[in-house]
Amino acid sequence: MKTAGTLAAILGLVSSVSAHYTFDKLLLNDKQVGGDNTYIRKHSNGYMPIKFKNIPSGSISPLDADFACNKGATGAAQVITVKAGDKIGLRQAFGANGIQHPGPSQIYIAPVNDAKKDKGSDWYKIHQSLICRQGSPESLRTTAWCSWDENNVWGIIPATIPNGQYLLRAEHIGLHGAHDGQAEFYVSCAQIQVTGNTATSMPGTAVKFPGAYQAGDAALNFSLWGRSTSYLVAPGPDVIPGGTIRGSASGAGGDKLQTVGGGKVSSSSTSGTKSAEGSPVPSAAATHTASGALPSVSLPAATATAGKPGKEGKGCNRSYPRRAAAALAARIDAEHAEQ
Ligand SMILES: *[C@@H]1O[C@H](CO)[C@@H](O)[C@H](O)[C@H]1NC(C)=O
Ligand SMILES: *[C@@H]1O[C@H](CO)[C@@H](O)[C@H](O)[C@H]1NC(C)=O
Repeated sequence: MKTAGTLAAILGLVSSVSAHYTFDKLLLNDKQVGGDNTYIRKHSNGYMPIKFKNIPSGSISPLDADFACNKGATGAAQVITVKAGDKIGLRQAFGANGIQHPGPSQIYIAPVNDAKKDKGSDWYKIHQSLICRQGSPESLRTTAWCSWDENNVWGIIPATIPNGQYLLRAEHIGLHGAHDGQAEFYVSCAQIQVTGNTATSMPGTAVKFPGAYQAGDAALNFSLWGRSTSYLVAPGPDVIPGGTIRGSASGAGGDKLQTVGGGKVSSSSTSGTKSAEGSPVPSAAATHTASGALPSVSLPAATATAGKPGKEGKGCNRSYPRRAAAALAARIDAEHAEQ
């Protein structure tokens, strides 16, 4: 692919999609339940991203007190009852139909007494979704990501957490401007009640929002405009035992969902190192097959932008100089203004 072709491909993809987004509809095992914001907290940030730098007018920073559930989020009317193995997704709002920003998606939960009122304090990561299609530096900017073109951020309810109420925080992070400190965070919180489990305490390590993310974190101060074909460090803490990891740091294992084993495996770091070498993420005895069916995942065909040998190869593996990268990232963001 020539440079012009590469740019056209990127911009062409971008122009056909909804660039900015937020989430307001709940999917339970792939079916919508309730209407807009029935179970998902309404916030006042529209579809604007949260950013560390060049914060859009009216938006906030990841260091803001409202980072957990987005600006001014208020309690939703209902709490959805779920059980281990359920697939829960937060679907895009405003008619958007596909995430087309390159980057990871993650789900955190915070135990609360009253999911309609409480803000949540200790956030545990129960799911992370990384790269599902191994490819070239070019595809790392687009279709390599598991979340690419999907209309919701989803995870699986773990069997390892106690029954009770939680806030469930869905997050997609757009990395196209991250090389310049401008990672984009799209977050919304659902209100859930977990039933049917026997655990009496939370496994794994909790973090605080704000606090868990800093501008200098390797996972957030990351350039996908270089020659990298992988994403070795996921943002935030490890996925808790019983949580799930989709894809891997390099996409070598394809679109696989693996359950983090019982407290022995350090998920994020292990997945990063191992999958970069082509091995699957943690030991993952796929414990949730016992508690529920694996979610069905339909995938588009393998990426069309993966590097091919020959004259197209150089373009596809192109490393953009800083100024060109900034221009491309800005063009991607300019699409937002048109919505
Ligand atoms: C991001 O990384 C670059 C290159 O290593 C460094 O110069 C810059 O200070 C980092 N940004 C932050 C916010 O730490
Ligand atoms: C492009 O990058 C991929 C992944 O690093 C590599 O396998 C491939 O050989 C490269 N293609 C060319 C033409 O350099």
